Amino acid sequence: MRGARILGTGRALPPRIVTNEDFAKWMDTTDEWIVQRTGIRERRFVDPGTGAAALGTEASRAAIAAAGIAPGDIDFIVFATVSPDYFFPGCGVYVQEWLGLPTIGALDVRTQCTGFLYGLSVAEAYVKGGFFDRVLVIGSEVQSTGLDLSTASRDVSVIFGDGAGAVVVGPAGPGEGILSSHMHAEGKYARELMLEAPASIENPRLSHEMLDAGRHYPKMNGRYVFTHAVRRFPEVIREALAANGMSIGDLSIVIPHQANLRITQAVAGALGVPAEKVFSNIEKYGNTTAASIPIALDECVEQGKIRKGDLVCLAAFGSGFTWASTLIRW
Ligand code: ACO
Repeated sequence: MRGARILGTGRALPPRIVTNEDFAKWMDTTDEWIVQRTGIRERRFVDPGTGAAALGTEASRAAIAAAGIAPGDIDFIVFATVSPDYFFPGCGVYVQEWLGLPTIGALDVRTQCTGFLYGLSVAEAYVKGGFFDRVLVIGSEVQSTGLDLSTASRDVSVIFGDGAGAVVVGPAGPGEGILSSHMHAEGKYARELMLEAPASIENPRLSHEMLDAGRHYPKMNGRYVFTHAVRRFPEVIREALAANGMSIGDLSIVIPHQANLRITQAVAGALGVPAEKVFSNIEKYGNTTAASIPIALDECVEQGKIRKGDLVCLAAFGSGFTWASTLIRW
């Protein structure tokens, strides 16, 4: 069977920077609390009228250019987001339209913080199996329009930001590129990090009562998320290495989903990996959910932190709970 590799990466960040001091004007919080608990100093928020599909399209253009191909060479689109422009249709169809692509397929993935890695595994399987030659995988989020910027939600709102990242996956020789993907889910914890409304189990899906109760804002059991994340990240990274007969010492770099700096540091400690081998940019962008890994990957490539032949591990944990890893020989 042929291999699959990442041919190019790209990202799109809205220009508007929102600092912790801005949050301190809106709610009872401080820069010190946010930096100490999360590592975040600033994040990006879109201007009104920009959705996840538009950001994802911009990141896709950059990834396609970096891959040295034309948009028309893309055979299939996978779009991961928790913040789609609309309840339906998904965002992938807009990318198909706005890139001016022929009527290729577009699949939306809904697995939250692990969405990009689940999506990448779909591209990996399609390319390795010979279904498609060039698959565009996008992670994109507009979180800012769904946050409660009052003190009531200060534990959640200070964490999230907007942004998008994308990659193009194409053929490689056997054993090159994406070595394996590993995915898990544990639905008994679904309620520990969720957005309840609008919801199809409610009729109507969104009512004035639901709005008054703030059920259209995300809710998180922070300590629960933290405890599970610091266990599952190392576990799924070790699983990827074991599946390929490799060990921690073989890793060139780990790119974790940028959930929270303290989670990233705990993961580095648990794995016994030096901090400089675990990439972090959460300081600048906050937690961009499905977008955080492709944004980070693009920055690593741009900064020369990943070179040909390096062993790269991508890993994520988030709502569901879901967790995943992807091991890549770059
Ligand atoms: N500013 C100031 N004070 C705050 C803020 C804020 N933004 N948010 C909460 N507090 C207060 C709380 O009200 C509480 O006050 P109290 O003691 O008077 O009741 C106090 O700070 C401590 O609250 P805790 O919830 O105990 O704070 P904790 O140390 O657990 O930190 C946090 C909260 C940062 C959410 C932590 O639980 C955490 O890091 N959890 C991981 C969750 C995470 O990273 N999620 C990312 C999204 S999910 C994902 O991507 C995997």
